[in-house]
Amino acid sequence: MSEDPAVGLDLPRCALATLPTPLVRADGLERALGAGPIWVKRDDLTGFGVAGNKARALEFLLGEATAVGADVLVAAGSPSSNFCAAAAMAASRAGLECHLLFPGPAPVERSVNVELAGAAGARLFFDVVATREQLDPVVLAHADLLAAQGRRPYAVPRGGATAVGAVGYAHAARELAAQCDEAGFLPRVVVVATGSGATQAGLVSGQVGHGLAWRVVGASVSRPAAEAGEQVLRLARECSTRLGLPPPGVGDVDVREARGPGFGIASEQDRTSAQLALRHAGLLLDPYYGAKAMTLLRHLLAEDGSTPIVFWHTGGVSAALAAVTRTTPSRGAPA
Ligand SMILES: Cc1ncc(COP(=O)(O)O)c(C=O)c1O
Repeated sequence: MSEDPAVGLDLPRCALATLPTPLVRADGLERALGAGPIWVKRDDLTGFGVAGNKARALEFLLGEATAVGADVLVAAGSPSSNFCAAAAMAASRAGLECHLLFPGPAPVERSVNVELAGAAGARLFFDVVATREQLDPVVLAHADLLAAQGRRPYAVPRGGATAVGAVGYAHAARELAAQCDEAGFLPRVVVVATGSGATQAGLVSGQVGHGLAWRVVGASVSRPAAEAGEQVLRLARECSTRLGLPPPGVGDVDVREARGPGFGIASEQDRTSAQLALRHAGLLLDPYYGAKAMTLLRHLLAEDGSTPIVFWHTGGVSAALAAVTRTTPSRGAPA
């Protein structure tokens, strides 16, 4: 590990998460899969609403927003976005207003995450563009508009994918290293779901920067793996620069295709992954992120049995619960 325990500790931070999150052995899953040691890093339990992994990113995003004197957070995402709901709650907690921009018209049936964002006090703007891929420039334009009105906006791209957002996971890599030391094992592989790329970028920055021996493998759930890999590398390098750590190289970024039938659409394998995790490890995995990352973990085990392996559970609890209620056949009216 790096000699300097103080790396990045001077960055402004708004405490949101309860850390460290548990690292637990999934022995039931090991037996079910006939595999060696599988450990789960429980970032579904970061303890701030149902923010999961996004709590770690928002600690540093809100930290910087507060430090520069912002009074309104501007963010965007799809109506299913965990990040938007978490951003709304984090902004309220830090005393900032929150404006959230969504693509397409306001849905008739709103997702739990949109409801949560509204309940947390965010102002919701629908139909600002047609698709989520077009959102980032509109976030900047919205922030410019607010600035012209005398407000002090802090704009973040989809998923909070900036070097600042990634810092939380560079710290998390060290958190995992300390827990593995204590438990007496060294992981060979760490598997994580990758969307906007900030989570994997932070993990790679921390892993390379602190000389940790494992390999981080990302399951790209919403973009072609090559595109996600470029984004992860760019963010990881920027994050390392910010932290004064040695930067990762191209070979440090490993992103695998995991979209299956599409973002948020579970394949048969993904459904099996979620069911195995639920029944054998008591884990709730959502069809957008967790189930697809678990499918990748199963593929990696089948390829070369890369254990000890760590499955980084990133949250997605609201969508995981919705998926269970959609797929569980009715057992009749409640008594
Ligand atoms: C539950 C969950 N897991 C994983 C991710 C992926 O994280 P990132 O966007 O940092 O790649 C997200 C992003 O929204 C998420 O909500």
